Amino acid sequence: MSTAFPLTRTTRPVPEAERAARLAAPGFGRYFTDHMATATWTADAGWHDRGIGPLAPFTLHPSTAVLHYAQEIFEGLKAYRHPDGSVWLFRPEANARRFIRSARRLALPELPEEDFLASVEELVRADAAWVPVPTGEESLYLRPFLFASEAFLGVRPAAEARYSVIASPAGPYFPSGVTGVTLWISGRYTRAAPGGTGAAKCGGNYAAGLAAQLEARDHGCDQVLYLDSAGRGTLEESGTMNLCLITSDDELVTPSLGTILEGVTRDTVLTLAPDLGLTPVERTVTFDELRTSAADGRVTEVFAAGTAAVITPVVGFKSDAHTFPIADGTPGKKTLTLRERVLDIQFGRAEDRHGWLRRV
Ligand code: COI
Repeated sequence: MSTAFPLTRTTRPVPEAERAARLAAPGFGRYFTDHMATATWTADAGWHDRGIGPLAPFTLHPSTAVLHYAQEIFEGLKAYRHPDGSVWLFRPEANARRFIRSARRLALPELPEEDFLASVEELVRADAAWVPVPTGEESLYLRPFLFASEAFLGVRPAAEARYSVIASPAGPYFPSGVTGVTLWISGRYTRAAPGGTGAAKCGGNYAAGLAAQLEARDHGCDQVLYLDSAGRGTLEESGTMNLCLITSDDELVTPSLGTILEGVTRDTVLTLAPDLGLTPVERTVTFDELRTSAADGRVTEVFAAGTAAVITPVVGFKSDAHTFPIADGTPGKKTLTLRERVLDIQFGRAEDRHGWLRRV
């Protein structure tokens, strides 16, 4: 079969026993498969040198632009093994399109959607033995990324960029799993301002969030939940996940797009909500509204949604002034049902009525 990303060189694979041990307890982002996809873009020649080869380190000149000015974007998606052994991607076209939007914002070259899809599919084919047979929710996490690879210290969009996809077998992102996480509301750090890079999936957003994450840990919380940067006290996202609330009158409420990432899992739950009798609503929600609604029972469940985290119940919040649980501080029933619904589609245990799965 002809492909835009041919397997040009293969490698001696990680020995089978070693691979089996890694697949049995993959964790998140610790182990990597045998191959990687790569392509290069140059201002004069466009995209070239697409292919799949052995996983190998990059050699970069110390002046390489990304190391200084963080001109970089990435994506996250997963490949799932179904009960019949076949392997499927979940909504990769949505990731491909978001990759293009992120590239525009970071003044990087746009990788055509068909190249994104071919790179991911060919890598998964080359490393099919690394797609876990799920005993829980294990899958193969795919990480496409693009960075400014030109060796030049002037501040301008780079004239050379490198694209790559690596793959890593993954279990649950949070070791606490579905027992639920507690989110820290920082009075000090915000994530994104209007006109900034909040809607782009760029490494800089994550680097800027690390201090807030440490602050969250210092307060005994699992993650930070950002408020808007204008001081209106509105809920944004957590840096690795979007936030969703379920109300006593069966609305599934999530903050509107703008300065937050347009999550694929966020869109998936908004689409599936009516199946569970929930009305999807995108609007601004203030932290004060969340706090008072949690106290008087109008907000009954909260969860966070992301590719790595799937759907993670949020069981409480903490800020300098307030600490409160959601309902009785345990994962909500509708959250867990929605979680199962998403996983059932991804793992081929439920009908894919929306045409979200793509066979590799
Ligand atoms: C994802 O869910 O794929 C993410 O990008 C979150 C993260 C692990 C950075």
